Amino acid sequence: MRVLGIETSCDETAVAVLENGNKVLTNVIASSADLHSLTGGVVPEVASREHVKAMIPTIETALRQANLSLENIDLIAVTVGPGLVGSLLIGIETAKAISFASKIKIIGVNHIVGHIYSNWLDKEEEIKFPVVIMTASGGHNHLVLMKNHYDFEILGKTRDDASGEAFDKIAKLLGLPYPGGPEISKRAKLGNPKKYNFPRSWLEKDSFDFSFSGLKSAVAREVHELELTDEAINDISASFQEAVVDVLATKLKRAADKYEAKEIHLAGGVSCNLRLREKIKEIKGDIVFRFPEKFIYCTDNAAMIASAGFYKYKITGEDDVFQIKVDPRLKI
Ligand code: KG4
Ligand code: ZN
Repeated sequence: MRVLGIETSCDETAVAVLENGNKVLTNVIASSADLHSLTGGVVPEVASREHVKAMIPTIETALRQANLSLENIDLIAVTVGPGLVGSLLIGIETAKAISFASKIKIIGVNHIVGHIYSNWLDKEEEIKFPVVIMTASGGHNHLVLMKNHYDFEILGKTRDDASGEAFDKIAKLLGLPYPGGPEISKRAKLGNPKKYNFPRSWLEKDSFDFSFSGLKSAVAREVHELELTDEAINDISASFQEAVVDVLATKLKRAADKYEAKEIHLAGGVSCNLRLREKIKEIKGDIVFRFPEKFIYCTDNAAMIASAGFYKYKITGEDDVFQIKVDPRLKI
């Protein structure tokens, strides 16, 4: 089965074609991140306008790269939420129009579930359940128990900022460009992670929730008392990153032990972070640890949406094209 994935929940206009749930034939991303870098964050109105411009050319490019036409597509999988309403609508209405006009089946996909399926991309070996997954992004941070395909239990989530959002806000404080995660991790390599002992928010004993606002305030207090030399930026970046990574990795491992997971997975933009991967490897014990095969599968992309759509279709069948609606606050 060939699946055309369409993802427009934030600032990436992304289109991919997948053979079944794993084999990526093409994965095209037109990002407006450079424009948002000028304003230090995503401006929803700007993102929607860029989606309108990029949507059709990106679909054409993806099909051309895969040497396919719409006649070769069996299913369209499109992100319906959560995300920015204006951005989501462009992808959804385009997918519905193609589905209706070309009589191709369609299925709506949850963006966070899409991130979960990024660990299936390009993997040939079978993934063994139960899996405990950490999805860590700019807009969400969840700890999920997955007992089978499309069988999810939320173990914990952020009570305030998502971890990626914390990276972005601290980068802004330090005068580094958006998105902040890659910038902070570059600076962190040059700094001392023990220079500042920033607080770790463990919350109640046994809680799998997260909170990063206290850490953000602690860093902000420190930054206001400092002269922001290169050395200070590097040390703050390293110490802040260490505090985030410590909490994420420890909670992931604790959940995996409690639910006797066969595998632990990392997904979402923050899974690009090499220190986080290293930390999980240090503490994972015998459990299989996976993260997306390529960096491009960690951040928003349409291949993960096509994969999630494929596995959902196998369980629920197609959606009614007239029932597919945007849901900016969609939960897993
Ligand atoms: O999954 P994603 O592309 O979009 C959302 O669904 O939010 O994640 C983007 C987030 C941004 O907050 C970005 O700063 C963060 O992922 N990120 C990183 C790294 N690369 C991207 N955070 C930490 N370390 C990185 N290397
Ligand atoms: Zn995302």
